[in-house]
Amino acid sequence: MSRRAVITGWGKCVPPVSLSNADLEQLMDTTDEWIVERTGIRNRQLSHVEVTDMAELAARRALACSGLDADEVDLVVVATCTPEILCPSVAAMVQDRIGASNAAAFDLNAACSGFVYGTSVVASMIESGYADKVLLVGAEKLHFAMDYRDRGTAILFGDGAGAAVFEPSEDGAGVLSVDLGADGGKGGTMVIRSMGSAGEPQATNDPQNFRLHFEGRAVFKIAVQGISASAARVLERAGLTADDVDLVVPHQANARIIDSATRRLGIEAGRVFVNITDLGNTAAASIPMALSDALDAGRISPGDTVVLTAFGGGVTWGSIALTWGNRTEPVGVHEGELPPTDMTSMDLLRQNLDFYAPLHANDPPIG
Ligand SMILES: CC(C)(COP(=O)(O)OP(=O)(O)OC[C@H]1O[C@@H](n2cnc3c(N)ncnc32)[C@H](O)[C@@H]1OP(=O)(O)O)[C@@H](O)C(=O)NCCC(=O)NCCS
Repeated sequence: MSRRAVITGWGKCVPPVSLSNADLEQLMDTTDEWIVERTGIRNRQLSHVEVTDMAELAARRALACSGLDADEVDLVVVATCTPEILCPSVAAMVQDRIGASNAAAFDLNAACSGFVYGTSVVASMIESGYADKVLLVGAEKLHFAMDYRDRGTAILFGDGAGAAVFEPSEDGAGVLSVDLGADGGKGGTMVIRSMGSAGEPQATNDPQNFRLHFEGRAVFKIAVQGISASAARVLERAGLTADDVDLVVPHQANARIIDSATRRLGIEAGRVFVNITDLGNTAAASIPMALSDALDAGRISPGDTVVLTAFGGGVTWGSIALTWGNRTEPVGVHEGELPPTDMTSMDLLRQNLDFYAPLHANDPPIG
C-alpha cells in the first residue's frame, strides 16, 4: 500500500469578541434578515490579538489532539492572507513559540483556498518522504482590512484559526487525490492591496486603497462554478462518485454558494458541513475550523470519504478527497486560552471606523 498523509490531530481558536448582525445594523444600512437570507451568517468573531496568537493556540490544540510532542514535528505551514507581518512568516513564529525546534516553517497564500493548497503541499511532502509529521494551520485576522460601513463586504468576514496534524499512513487512509487551479485574470474581483511590496506608505494610508475590494456578485458566480467543477474532478481522480462521499467540508464563503455548489455535485445538505452561521467567512481558517467542529459533532467516522473544497482570492480553487483514518477522538487536550479581554466589538472596530471615515463623509451617522 502506498504511503499517504492522514490527519491525526485537529484544533481551532475562536476569538472571544462577537460581531452580530444586530451590531452591523448599527453601522450600515442593512438588516439581520437580509444578511441571513443572502449569506446564512448571523455572527462572526473578532480577534483582539494578532493572527500569530490565534495560529499558535490552534496549533497547540491540534498537537495535543494528535498526542505528538512539538519536537517531533518536521514542518510547520501556515496558510494565511493576513499575516501579522511579512517577514518572519507566521509559521516561523509559531514554530518558535510551540517549541517545534526540528521543524522547517513557511507561510502559504492562496487566500480562502489556502488550507486546501496547504493540504496538497504537506500531503505531497509526506508521500515523497520529505516530511513525516506536519502541522498545517489556517489563520486569518480579516477584520483589519474591513470597512465596516461597506455593506457589500464587511458582513461576510470573521477572524479565527484552525489547524491539523498530518502523519504518514500505510493502510490506505489519507489524501487520495488533489485538484488545484487558479485564474489570475480574475484576480481583480477580490483584492487586499496594501500589505505587499507595492504598499508604499502613502498607499497604505489611503483608506480607499487599503480596504478589501470585492465584487460580490461576480465572485458568487465564479465560486459556485469553481467549487462544483473542482470537487467533481477530485472525485473522478480518486475513482469515486458523489454517492461515495460521506461528508463535504467546504470553505465557508456563503451558505448559498455552498448550497448551489453541492447541489450541482448531487450531494444533499445532510452530507455537507456548514458552520458559517456563527463564524462567517474566515478565509484560510474556515476549513480547518469546520473540520474541528465536524469532528466534535461526531460527523466524521473512521474510514469516511471526506471532500474538502474551496474557492478564494487569486482567484484560486482546489479540492481534496481523503479517507479519514482511525482517529476521531483527541489523544489529549491543550487547556490554554487566548488572553481574556473586556473589549466590545465596537471598541475593536473603532480604529477601522475612524480610518475609513473619510470615505463615508456623506453617509448617515452611525447608530
Ligand atoms: C456579497 C453578497 C452577499 C451580496 O449578495 P447579492 O445577493 O449578490 O447582492 P447584490 O450584490 O446583487 O445586491 C443586491 C442588492 O442588495 C443591496 N445590498 C448589498 N449588500 C447589502 C446588505 N449588507 N444589506 C442590505 N442590502 C444590501 C445591494 O446594494 C443591491 O441593491 P440594489 O439592487 O438596490 O442595487 C454575495 O454576492 C456574495 O456572498 N458573494 C460572494 C461572497 C464570498 O463569499 N466571497 C468570498 C469567496 S472566498
